[in-house]
Amino acid sequence: MRTVIEKIIEGEEIQNQQKIEAAAAILREGGLVAFPTETVYGLGADALNPLAAARIYQAKGRPSDNPLIVHISCMEDLNKIAAYIPQKARKLAERFWPGPLTMIFPKRSIVPAETTGGLGTVAVRMPSHPAALALIEAAGGYIAAPSANTSGRPSPTRAEHVAQDMDGRIPMILDGGAVGIGIESTIVDFSEEIPMVLRPGYVTPDMIREVIGEARIDPGLGEERSDIHPKAPGMKYKHYAPKAELILVNGAQERVQQTINSLTREAMESGKAAGVIGTDESCGCYRYGIVKSIGTRNDEDTIARHLYGILREFDEMNVDIIYSESFSTPRIGQAIMNRMLKAAGHQVIEV
Ligand code: TXA
Ligand code: MG
Repeated sequence: MRTVIEKIIEGEEIQNQQKIEAAAAILREGGLVAFPTETVYGLGADALNPLAAARIYQAKGRPSDNPLIVHISCMEDLNKIAAYIPQKARKLAERFWPGPLTMIFPKRSIVPAETTGGLGTVAVRMPSHPAALALIEAAGGYIAAPSANTSGRPSPTRAEHVAQDMDGRIPMILDGGAVGIGIESTIVDFSEEIPMVLRPGYVTPDMIREVIGEARIDPGLGEERSDIHPKAPGMKYKHYAPKAELILVNGAQERVQQTINSLTREAMESGKAAGVIGTDESCGCYRYGIVKSIGTRNDEDTIARHLYGILREFDEMNVDIIYSESFSTPRIGQAIMNRMLKAAGHQVIEV
């Protein structure tokens, strides 16, 4: 299959609409289209068509028990797929939709088991990216979309990343340039008395508490423990992993830099190609290996935005081992560290 990449270009509204219409036609016929959202690129299919949803699992090599998020473009469309919408969910929707928040509802029968991985619940999100909203509307209102990476690889934050994984497997990629946020949406579940965050994201637990009061964080999200499992099926898989071994170094800045310098030196002396992830502020202090800046500590959003891209860049360069600073920054740090710890298989050196 040939994969066509269609660029969405600011100011060329008529051409953009034609490209979105062509993409929507593919979706309506049961095909797959990758498209930009504000978080990461999604791999879309008609969420109400079981055969189309099944194609997503095939293209990604995704385990079939891992449910998909259904993307909608307006609040009215939620009623057709959610059997019950708690008042607290309505409040969160009012505050954060369209945006990087996914909520879990009991599903209506119109949503096929293929879309929800056999679960009786459905995850729903209204993205804020204008191309995503236009595509959802043109395709009939409901697009099931996981991140558009091969299962297990870092999520794509540019159309080029999607092409690395999906070229030849899907008919079309809508290219909206680099995404704004760079890590996947926050997932909130309402099946218990107190709403629970199943996956941390740009919308933090504190932002949620401000709107609805109490909220918990899934205890299964902590360290790798075999006795507690995360509630979102996707969170249990080794995920976001670069090909190289990733090791995080945590502690006071100066000690972190010294440790990374001596570890990269040792790695290189033993014949390994080593990479270092630092920041605009720290990169000048690293002496060995391929050093990359993930962003600036003065703006934590830049760190989230470049995380997956930097892991893919190191993959392209075939490094064997990557040492990274850790980024428990104030607001979005929890989401960043959740992804980094998984990518590192929880290997952290405390200094
Ligand atoms: O930002 C995002 O959410 C991106 C963009 C494309 O919208 N999508 C995304 O999808 O990250 P995906 O498939 O990579 O992650 C979906 C996560 C998985 O961990 C899955 O297990 C969980 O959501 N999930 C989906 N439906 C669920 C349900 N009914 N109950 C619990 N977890 C669910
Ligand atoms: Mg994913």
